[in-house]
Amino acid sequence: MEVPFLDLKPQYRLIREEIEEKLKKIFESQQFILGEEGRQLEEEIAEYCQVQFAIGVSSGTDALLVSLMALDLEAGAAVVTTPFTFIATAGAPARLGLKIIFVDIEPLSFNLDVTQLAEKLSREINKAKIKAIIPVHLFGQMVEMKPLLELAQEYDLKVIEDAAQAIGAEYPHSKQFLRAGSGGELGILSFFPSKNLGGAGDGGMVLTSDLGLREKIISLRNHGAHQKYLHLRVGGNFRLDELQAAVLRVKLKYLPEWISQRQARAENYERLFQEMGLIEEFVKTPPAVYKTKGVKNYHTYHQYVIRVKQRDELREFLLEKGIQTAVYYPIPLHLQPCFRYLGYQKGDFPQAEQASAEVLALPIYPELPESHQEYVVAALREFFLG
Ligand SMILES: Cc1ncc(COP(=O)(O)O)c(C=O)c1O
Repeated sequence: MEVPFLDLKPQYRLIREEIEEKLKKIFESQQFILGEEGRQLEEEIAEYCQVQFAIGVSSGTDALLVSLMALDLEAGAAVVTTPFTFIATAGAPARLGLKIIFVDIEPLSFNLDVTQLAEKLSREINKAKIKAIIPVHLFGQMVEMKPLLELAQEYDLKVIEDAAQAIGAEYPHSKQFLRAGSGGELGILSFFPSKNLGGAGDGGMVLTSDLGLREKIISLRNHGAHQKYLHLRVGGNFRLDELQAAVLRVKLKYLPEWISQRQARAENYERLFQEMGLIEEFVKTPPAVYKTKGVKNYHTYHQYVIRVKQRDELREFLLEKGIQTAVYYPIPLHLQPCFRYLGYQKGDFPQAEQASAEVLALPIYPELPESHQEYVVAALREFFLG
């Protein structure tokens, strides 16, 4: 059997007609940049993500960059983030000449460890000029936002939530639910095609409820223009185009259902691993850390990431059986050559380093057939138990 890591074709078959209809209209209108589709997508995403404003941009990476630009952090300021994330999270502050301070992850959720963050802040706040935190809701599950937001308030730090992988994820918070990207001054989304809400190319969004930041980002994404050919600041071309916005608007309607289908598949993996006797000793499945019994799941399973020993041998074994997997992320950011100048060393973030050696992402997407899941888990059983 061939088990692809991700197959976007069944999703496209479901929405092909709607998409073709929309694209046709855009081609007829010949309005490709900053039009009605983009404006409406911004409104719909703002509502879905429970923020006042959303601003469409060219990618998740650019959403991070433009968010940091809008905060106007002084030269030499530092931002704190996790070393266990995609390069863009730390790449954006690095490109702006900001200092990056990493804090290790909490091993169950793979997210920034807020207890260690508190210790770091109390030790370094005065000497390190820390001005912002970028929590990353990795794999579709949110960081412990309540204590993180309290720390931000205590130390007067800006928060940019990297929700590139977590649109629609929630965090239970004082009898309410905080949506990913809505808790800090700014939040960012990525619409990379493989994301839970993926476009037909690159795209991203900045979320905020601050009118001043919204205005700044609208200007920054368009070369800092205030009006045509009047530039208040230096920005860039960070715009989201109409074709992307149209595709995303069609898909957004299905997103809640697609997230439920991902959750059902995650539960199915959990059950199969239990039945095959693989849990704990051989396979650690990803816990939904905020799920209380009988209550809904807040994890959106952008990725379904297990921990295993002998990860690389297992991966090879699965590939021989036609099963594709992925490793997010094989090298934590503090050990990346491009960040050598930060002066970190092996051993500095043991949890991130251990995760890098153990994580294995299994196929997950809304239409993933149950037969594929059974085949994957049976192959893991064969590897570990013969
Ligand atoms: C955590 C995280 N941050 C930022 C990004 C950047 O998004 P994009 O690929 O749209 O530039 C990604 C994309 O993979 C991501 O996973």
